[in-house]
Amino acid sequence: MEKFKYVKPTKEWEEKAIDFIHEFEEMNSPINGTNRLHKYLDSYDAWLDKIEQDRVQPLSENAVPAETFFFVRDNDNKIIGMINIRLALNEKLKKLGGHIGYCIRPTERRKGYNKINLYMGLLYCQEQGIKEVLMDCEKDNVASAKTMQALGGKLIKEWYEDDKYHCVIQDYVIDVDKTIEDNRSVYENFIVENEPSPRR
Ligand SMILES: CC(C)(COP(=O)(O)OP(=O)(O)OC[C@H]1O[C@@H](n2cnc3c(N)ncnc32)[C@H](O)[C@@H]1OP(=O)(O)O)[C@@H](O)C(=O)NCCC(=O)NCCS
Repeated sequence: MEKFKYVKPTKEWEEKAIDFIHEFEEMNSPINGTNRLHKYLDSYDAWLDKIEQDRVQPLSENAVPAETFFFVRDNDNKIIGMINIRLALNEKLKKLGGHIGYCIRPTERRKGYNKINLYMGLLYCQEQGIKEVLMDCEKDNVASAKTMQALGGKLIKEWYEDDKYHCVIQDYVIDVDKTIEDNRSVYENFIVENEPSPRR
C-alpha cells in the first residue's frame, strides 16, 4: 500500500526538489505552496535559509511564521507534492491566501493525493493548536475547491478579487478537529507512522 510522509527540506533533497519544480515548468502548470522554491532553483541553499527563517518569523503585517514540507511517497521516496502552512495569519492573509497553500506534481494528479496532503496538513495544524483553518482558491480551480470540500471545507464567501488575480475567489473554513475525526478512517492508512511531524 502507498504511504506518505512530510519531509523537512534539506540539502539532500536538492536534486529531487529541482526536478519537482522542472516538471511544473515543463507542463506549464501553476505552482502553489512551495514557498517560492521556483524562484530559487539556482540558489537552493538560500531557499533553505529562507524557510528556516520563516519558521521563526514573528507575526507582522508583512510576514507570518510558516512551515514548508515536501509531501513524499514513502514507497519510492519521490516528492509528490508540497505544502506551505502559515501558523498565524495577518490581515492580508486573512483576506487572501489563508493558512495553507499546496500542490501536486502534474504527472501525479487525480489520484487522490492532494486529499491525503491536506489531511496531513490538518494533522500538523492540530499539532500546532490551530482549530480553524482558512483557505481559498480561484473559483475555476475545481481540483483545489473539491479537495477542500472533501476535507470538511465550508464555503463562506465568494468574491471578486480585483488587485492581483482578477477573478472570483472562494473562501473556505475547515474545523480541524472535526474534519480529522470524520476522515480518520479514510486517510490514516496512507500515512507513515509518527506523522505528521516531519523527518528531521
Ligand atoms: C489542486 C491540486 C493540488 C489537486 O491535486 P490532485 O492530487 O490532482 O487532487 P486529488 O486527486 O486529491 O483530487 C481532489 C478532488 O478534486 C477532483 N479533481 C482533481 N483534479 C480535477 C480536475 N482537473 N477537474 C475536476 N476535478 C478534479 C478530484 O476528483 C477530487 O474530488 P472528489 O473528492 O470529489 O473525487 C493540483 O491540481 C495542483 O497542484 N494544481 C496546481 C497548484 C494549485 O492550483 N494549487 C492550489 C491553489 S489554491
